[in-house]
Formats: sequence, C-alpha cells, structure tokens
Amino acid sequence: MSESGLTKIGVIGIGTMGNGIAQVAAQSGFTTVVMDVDAGVLEKGLVAIGRSLDRLVAAHEKSGGEKGIDGAAKDAALARLSTTTEAKDLLGCDLVIEAVPEMPELKEKINRNLAGLGYDRILVSNTSGISITRLGAAYGKPDRFMGMHFMNPVPMQQGVEIIRGLATSDETYATVVALCHDLGKIEIPAEDKAGFAINRMFVPFVNEAIRVVEEGIAAVDDVDKCTYCLGHKMGPLMTADYVGLDTMLFICRVLEEELGSFYKPSPLLKRLVESGQLGAKTGSGFYLWEKYKATGVNPDVARYRIG
Ligand SMILES: NC(=O)c1ccc[n+]([C@@H]2O[C@H](COP(=O)([O-])OP(=O)(O)OC[C@H]3O[C@@H](n4cnc5c(N)ncnc54)[C@H](O)[C@@H]3O)[C@@H](O)[C@H]2O)c1
Repeated sequence: MSESGLTKIGVIGIGTMGNGIAQVAAQSGFTTVVMDVDAGVLEKGLVAIGRSLDRLVAAHEKSGGEKGIDGAAKDAALARLSTTTEAKDLLGCDLVIEAVPEMPELKEKINRNLAGLGYDRILVSNTSGISITRLGAAYGKPDRFMGMHFMNPVPMQQGVEIIRGLATSDETYATVVALCHDLGKIEIPAEDKAGFAINRMFVPFVNEAIRVVEEGIAAVDDVDKCTYCLGHKMGPLMTADYVGLDTMLFICRVLEEELGSFYKPSPLLKRLVESGQLGAKTGSGFYLWEKYKATGVNPDVARYRIG
C-alpha cells in the first residue's frame, strides 16, 4: 500500500517533464495513464521513457546492483504504463498531474475540460510559476487542486516544490506530500507567488547570464565555466537549453507580469525562440546538441552582440 493511498495516476503531456513524471510514477508502482495530443507525440515520449529506463538498467549492471533498476523492474514499469489521446481515459485516476506548456490559458482550458468531463479527484499542475489559485479556480474544485513542481530530469532530481493555492484543503496537501514520498521525492513547500522559490532565483540568474553573452562580456561556454567555480554542476546556459528555451521564455513572462520589469526576458532568449532553436529538444540553443549531449557552442549565438 502506498503512503498516499493512491493507485492510479494520470499525466497530461508527455514532453520533457511529462515523460519523466510518467516514468517515475510507473516505476514507483502506480498504474499510469499518459495523455497527449496525438499518437506521434506519445510514441516519441515512450521512446524517451524507454531510453531513460535502459540507462537505469545499464547503471544497475555497471554498479553490481547498487544503482539503477534491473531488467524485470523496467518491464514491470512499462507494463504499468498506458497512453491515450482522450482526456476521458483519465477519469478513473486517483490523481492527475498536468504537464503541458507554460501557458496559463491552455492550462485553464485543460482544467475546465477535465472538470466538465466529470473528473473530481485531485488535480495538480507542474507549472513553473503560474498562480496555483488561478489554475485551481479554472478546475472549479480549488480544494482539490495544488502545484507539484518537479525538477528536470525528473528521474534524477529528488526535489519537488509543493504549492498550495488559497483554497487547497489540508487533505489534498497531505496526499500530495505522501505522493512525493511514494515517488522517492523530497517535498519543498513554497508559497503561491510567481516563480515560487526556485524559478524566482533561477530565472533572473539565466537572464543575466544571457545578458553577459549579449553584451560581449563573456562567451557562452565561459559563462557556464564561471558557475562551476560556484560549485554548480551545470552552467545556467546549458541548463536553460536543457529546460527548453520556450519554457524559459514562458516562465520569464509569467514572472514579469506579476513581479515587474526586472524579470523581462532578454532579447537573445526571444530571438532563439523566434528562430525555433529551443535547446536540447530541437538540437540547438546556446549549444548544438546531439541526442541530448552538447557538442559545442551554437555559432549563431557566438556571433550575437547587443549594447
Ligand atoms: N522543462 C523543464 O525543465 C521544466 C521543469 C519544471 C517544470 N516545467 C513545467 O512543466 C510543464 C511542461 O513543460 P515541458 O518542458 O515538459 O514542455 P514540453 O513542451 O516539453 O511538453 C509539453 C507536452 O504537452 C503536450 N500538450 C500540449 N497541449 C496539450 C493538450 N491540450 N493536451 C495534452 N497534452 C498537450 C505537448 O504535446 C507536449 O508533449 C510546463 O508548465 C513547464 O513550465 C518544465
């Protein structure tokens, strides 16, 4: 029996975060249903989950069983996982985790739609910083709504920010804390203010790193090297590529709207998104990428200077 008492988890969106969340839920013993817009996207997400599980099996073999998972655990996780393009297939879930792009209106629409179909259990959003109270109002059952902000890559990162909306009930909060434990995660409580705790700190850090490049103060790889001196394992520009530059831009805009111009996205971030260079997932951003491994600095960015 899980600590949360839940057995079936739904995930909406099988992108960067949704595929990690679905993987961890299935690995942790939950029957898991993932919903996305079409079969092609679901297939791509399942391939990513398969690759990630294979890496865990390889780690298990290499470490003599100390790390990762064995082949049987991988097969069991995959057997617990199913996909769908129909929101109605989420109706039997005990809790649904929404992980679609960081667009307030899209998330509100999904919440309203789910409620309209008759879903009335706990719904959480993986939003990076949109008001939980606003999204809970769209669901119409704000007592059963809260934020559950996983970190990327979900199978590796233990921390999960948990954010109550104004009307989230104690029961919902306790269930979500227990779910964090069931998933092998550590809960980090944060208040419902744009960016919560982590992105309130991380987004200005990335934005300023981009401005250092834009102003010609230091090159992309040197900006990242500076932060290794601070003990960071990955620099801000590589992390931004990894997160997805479209997602970074969406979060900047949410922060700017609520907290002011200090959080305004830097022009180079906007130019990269306009050009379709969204980071690791599209093969280029601040760096060029092959299968999620950076192969060098993107020459388009190396040339860019303002101010
Ligand atoms: N990328 C990160 O590092 C990161 C970290 C923490 C939180 N987040 C947050 O997680 C959420 C998802 O981000 P992501 O990076 O995984 O985005 P993504 O673009 O990689 O994936 C989003 C997925 O949602 C799907 N989708 C879009 N509209 C949909 C709909 N109507 N119904 C079902 N599925 C739909 C897309 O097809 C896609 O597969 C965002 O709120 C983001 O801010 C992202």
